[in-house]
Amino acid sequence: MKIATGTAGGKIILLGEHFAVNGCHAIALAISNKSVVEITPLDKISFHTKVGGTIPKLTNKAISNILEAMNIKDKFNVELKGDLPTVGGLGSSAAFCVSLTRALANYYGLKLTNEKINEIAYKGELAFHGNPSGLDNTIATYGGAIKFRRNPAGNKFEQLKLNMPLHFVLGLTGISSPTSKMVAKVQEFKAKNEQLFQKLFDQAQELVSDGSTILESENPDLELIGKLMNKNQELLRAIGVSTKENEEVIKIMLEESALGAKITGGGGGGTCLALVKDKSHADKIILKLKKSGFKALYSVFSPSRKV
Ligand code: MEV
Repeated sequence: MKIATGTAGGKIILLGEHFAVNGCHAIALAISNKSVVEITPLDKISFHTKVGGTIPKLTNKAISNILEAMNIKDKFNVELKGDLPTVGGLGSSAAFCVSLTRALANYYGLKLTNEKINEIAYKGELAFHGNPSGLDNTIATYGGAIKFRRNPAGNKFEQLKLNMPLHFVLGLTGISSPTSKMVAKVQEFKAKNEQLFQKLFDQAQELVSDGSTILESENPDLELIGKLMNKNQELLRAIGVSTKENEEVIKIMLEESALGAKITGGGGGGTCLALVKDKSHADKIILKLKKSGFKALYSVFSPSRKV
């Protein structure tokens, strides 16, 4: 039986999530954890996962959206593998959509550009959450470090030129909240607090601009990046996406001298992100998080890694 596979990487958002939905710039970095999708023909759509975490209920809908966008009438058994946990915040739904698109392209021998893959994967993301900015599928498709902006006339993004690795701790709260729910919550907050939201949006925009300038400088000041992350967390708190579990994880990270710590992705639980000095600093924080009952992972962003 013919089998085809496709892969795509997970991501962290360093600065700018949620505000990105309304057109703020955001910075996302690819992480080394990847999703792998394997497809085999079947008489119906079916989905299985070998990856830990929660699987969004709408996976079959996402698969149908992608098949439709590629004008494919055949049906498949779709199996999710790889080492990208589906825990919320790490871009696993977008990585799944990109991996599936690549698997289908491989199955039919189609040579799709990344632009086309990104466009198709976005249709899958729409099933998972009604109003995605396009940030997650873009970083899953292109990898690297991107500065992204949603734009009605076509999203814009550029690759940031980083010249040093960045070390992170990913702290898993163990609480999963669908991104769709958190995005809707923020949009409700915006509708009720237009002026305040605009003020917070402007601050987020400034953090992202400062962050990208620092990251692209010759000798990036990571302490400053950490401070920007902390300020970003204040904004995320103000729009109501930080739970007590997020706060607990972030507190531990900062007590262990993380350079900065914040939610990454949708929040409402999910994953928190700490920028740290190096691997041994990460190990220290991970140990402390584990002692407090949280799962945690080390992740390094390496500028030389290709998608
Ligand atoms: C989710 O990873 C990032 C959000 O900004 C939503 C989006 O941009 O689509 C919360």
